[in-house]
Amino acid sequence: MNLLIKGARVVDFSQDFVGDVYIEDGIIVEIGKNLNKSCEVVNGKGRVLMPSFIDTHSHFREPGYTYKEDILSGCRAAVRGGYTGVNLMANTNPVCSTMETVDYVINKGKTIGLVDIHQCASITYDFNGKDINHIDNLSSKVKIISEDGKDVMNVKVMMDAMIKAKKKDITVMCHCEDHDLSNVDMRLAENMMTWRNITLAEYTGCKVHMAHVSTKESIDYCIEAKKKGHKVTLEVTPHHIALTKDENDYRVNPPIRMEEDRQYLIKAIKEGYVDAIGTDHAPHTKEDKEKGAPGLSGIETSFSICYTELVKKGHISLNKLSEIMSKNTAEIVGFNKGQINIGFDGDLVLVDLNKEYVIDSNKFHSKGKNTPFDNKRVYGQVTTTIKGGKVVFQEEGDSDDNR
Ligand code: DOR
Ligand code: ZN
Repeated sequence: MNLLIKGARVVDFSQDFVGDVYIEDGIIVEIGKNLNKSCEVVNGKGRVLMPSFIDTHSHFREPGYTYKEDILSGCRAAVRGGYTGVNLMANTNPVCSTMETVDYVINKGKTIGLVDIHQCASITYDFNGKDINHIDNLSSKVKIISEDGKDVMNVKVMMDAMIKAKKKDITVMCHCEDHDLSNVDMRLAENMMTWRNITLAEYTGCKVHMAHVSTKESIDYCIEAKKKGHKVTLEVTPHHIALTKDENDYRVNPPIRMEEDRQYLIKAIKEGYVDAIGTDHAPHTKEDKEKGAPGLSGIETSFSICYTELVKKGHISLNKLSEIMSKNTAEIVGFNKGQINIGFDGDLVLVDLNKEYVIDSNKFHSKGKNTPFDNKRVYGQVTTTIKGGKVVFQEEGDSDDNR
């Protein structure tokens, strides 16, 4: 697809200028000023053009839990949130432990064509905590394995999985939680396993990605490992950046923490230790939430929450936000996206930074309306999402006339 976006403020991790971007056959081929092409043109005036967002952590629930979300509704939610690439977790039914299930998800995503999908395989077969032989049968399509939703409790099993993963150049994505401690102290449960998983990563030399790091102590363990040069990346979620337990103890795992932790996450982002924003988009039905299911539907609110809490409040620049929502996340998941440079996929978003709006879960494209952010006033609305030079989402009522 060919597309010319004209007159936008172009922002990625390293640039900020007013100009035009031309996408040919789905790839960015020209960046400049006053470009003229005989193709569809999108007016970028009054908007910021950024690389689309890439999510290191999403649950689209298919196969098995399609009453909560399916690949189509997940993809529609993603593009509404400005995302064109996602890393999906393996806690489906059946669990993604075979190439058959992984391929099912990837192929369905391709047919839909809105979002590129990386599907994680599980670390242990069927999340049984013991068997890891299936890792041998994973094709090179699987770049990340994860037990997200739980952790691998047996330390030897986790160590052997990391050894296997390292040999295949696979990243182990860690949901750090000691289940023996979950009912005792959720903070200790995260801290202990963050330390354990990092120690194992250092020992085995395996690449690890730490999911939804939420405590001060866990951040410190990750920073220490990074300083020693170990292959550790880490993500934080928009909800752990925006909420505190005292104000809104929304049920999610890991739990919403204290103000001190929230401040520490922001400090770590500012100092460059946080690689990624991962939404942990976890859609549930109203009934499941009432029964205590942890998680929130977060992919449609992620940019606005992060922009409002981090950029608007002066903690980081828009370049930095682009780095942790697009450039780094694309690198972690393995997509040729996340930068506005020649040769990268033409996956871009237009955002209206001045637009203040109220989050309304009734408008979500996700089946999951579970959010702690209903009625929250935020800035920064995604107005257009482009994938490979094709407009895949357009905010209703956003026309050229008002610019
Ligand atoms: O809150 C959560 N929900 N945390 C997880 O780790 C899993 C997720 C889910 O799948 O619902
Ligand atoms: Zn998790």
